[in-house]
Amino acid sequence: MSSIKSVSTESRVFEPPAEFAAKAKIGSREAYDKLYAQSIEDPDAFWAERAEELHWFTKPTTISQWDPPFAKWFLGGTTNLAYNCLDRHVLAGNGDRTALIFEGEPGDTRTLTYAELLAEVCKLSNGLLDSGVKKGDRVIIYMGMVPEAAIAMLACARIGAIHSVIFGGFAAEAVRDRVLDAGATTILTQDGAWRRGKVVPLKAQVDQACESCPGVVRTIVLRRTNNDITMKEGRDLEWAAVLDGASAEHEAPALDAEHPLFILYTSGTTGKPKGVLHTTGGYMVYAHTTTKYVFDMRPDDVYWCTADVGWVTGHSYIVYGPLANGTQVLMYEGAPNHPGPDRFWEMIAKHKVTIFYTAPTAIRAFIKWGDEHVTKHDLSSLRLLGTVGEPINPEAWIWYRDMIGGGRCPIVDTWWQTETGGIMMTPIPGAVAAKPGSCTLPFFGISPKVLRDDGTEADTNEGGYLVIDKPWPAMMRTIWGDDQRFKETYFSRFEGKYFTGDGARYDEDGYFWVMGRVDDVVNVAGHRLGTAELESCLVAHEAVAEAAVVARPDELKGQALVAFVTLKSSAKPSPELNAALSEQVAREIGKFARPDSIRFADALPKTRSGKIMRRLLRELAAGQTPTGDVTTLEDISVLASLRSDES
Ligand code: PRX
Repeated sequence: MSSIKSVSTESRVFEPPAEFAAKAKIGSREAYDKLYAQSIEDPDAFWAERAEELHWFTKPTTISQWDPPFAKWFLGGTTNLAYNCLDRHVLAGNGDRTALIFEGEPGDTRTLTYAELLAEVCKLSNGLLDSGVKKGDRVIIYMGMVPEAAIAMLACARIGAIHSVIFGGFAAEAVRDRVLDAGATTILTQDGAWRRGKVVPLKAQVDQACESCPGVVRTIVLRRTNNDITMKEGRDLEWAAVLDGASAEHEAPALDAEHPLFILYTSGTTGKPKGVLHTTGGYMVYAHTTTKYVFDMRPDDVYWCTADVGWVTGHSYIVYGPLANGTQVLMYEGAPNHPGPDRFWEMIAKHKVTIFYTAPTAIRAFIKWGDEHVTKHDLSSLRLLGTVGEPINPEAWIWYRDMIGGGRCPIVDTWWQTETGGIMMTPIPGAVAAKPGSCTLPFFGISPKVLRDDGTEADTNEGGYLVIDKPWPAMMRTIWGDDQRFKETYFSRFEGKYFTGDGARYDEDGYFWVMGRVDDVVNVAGHRLGTAELESCLVAHEAVAEAAVVARPDELKGQALVAFVTLKSSAKPSPELNAALSEQVAREIGKFARPDSIRFADALPKTRSGKIMRRLLRELAAGQTPTGDVTTLEDISVLASLRSDES
């Protein structure tokens, strides 16, 4: 594992604040150790007990079944996730409690109690059923951050339709690929979404995508921004019309624990995005349990996760986990710097947010914008902070703790993935001391290991491959429609063990330090992107012969994209072409994926078998001289010319 070397010298330790620990659900290291040991010694007993906290129409008869790589959980049980997020609280007499607090980018606000949210979800459930959506149908949700996006997810979960949320920043081509792969019949969308004071025209993208998606028989369109849109007769329905006359009562059906809940697409190393499939019972129990302990969640918390519902964080920790715990969820529609760079801090003060969960890329932006935007607001309501999405650099961690948390709030650095469904490694805030940059220890029932190339266990502080060697309830069940790829991607590197694709080490205290992806997937502003998808988008331009996209470290975004492009002989490099290529990526994948720099090259460094040597390009992109092994390089002169190009 010489490719992952640890250069971290971080040694600071922050014990859980005594005041926090005194009130916490798990308030000491001993309590954590004891429960963790139980969860590993007898996982079925541990998870059976956790499942008891939720409603089942029929109780499971078998807790888990593991036939690698296929897991099943809570077999024989029937339940309903939407029922557990809504009806359960209303029936317990808590219908008047606040469920969702929405703030639109223009400043409009809307609050929904649990009873009101249940009524909205029932109306949409009835509306979907009346329009012909059936259990098992795939429904695309391509929306902005509005309450209806959460309502749509919950309505699908309720009737057993399988939702696939597509991030609103994706463009038509990306929507098309996902619609086709999922075999979706229905798209729920909006006229447009607000972003930095401008309208993102979602419906227009859907129209374009649908030109090559004959399987889509209906779209349901919410009016949010009131921009002009075209409605296609016989296919497009107004959201309001679908709800019109729909009853606010709907009996939640009992769904099998292994009934598919959602597909969420994530990038792989080969071109085609992977449809990660999660099912009902295991995901539900895991989302509920992790939210409860990691965020030490209570009904009177005002909890704000700044992710988008288009990412897994939005699924597990905006919608399902927090609502299953009956807390108050703040949902914000827009950009963090609109109208000013203090929007988030203003909102925390206004809504008296108690728990704030965001990404390292956002924290780096806040640092850049300046402390004065933070200090002018009262953030004393906060009691807990969290981060997710990429490794957080210790300096950003310290800034987060001091500036946002006022030195009094614990920080949970949560490591997990779309595939894992929920948080896998994290400090339990009242129990486990934090080290800046480390996601610390595994969550209950989770068994992470660091392996060497040959499958043996790495030593303390030796970088290796991060695997999980026991199943857990929320693990992905397969790649939609492609069991073989599921097996190859996650279970072939180390037989029978889930390979995360990340490199990691554990230190002398058993703390885990995740060092990023070991493959070519790049992480830009917290978004994991496959280089292959970006490259095929560039190559689609008529002037381009070949492209390789790599990431280089970027102070703000964590990683920034550099594209190396070789042109067809008929084409010549020019600033216009540079701009056109950048536009192409923005149009087809999304603006967030626009390369920071596009470099034209005569040729790309390749191995003899024709594979582009991205390692060399990464070094060049970072301004370093390629050092490592170049013996597999097909034509060494290519490297020299790329280097001179740079100066
Ligand atoms: O490399 C790890 C990084 O993000 C990857 C998962 O990305 P995605 O499926 O898009 O899900 C992001 C939200 C869960 C991981 O394989 N990652 C995520 N959280 C952390 C992290 N790396 C280090 N520390 C984290 N806390």
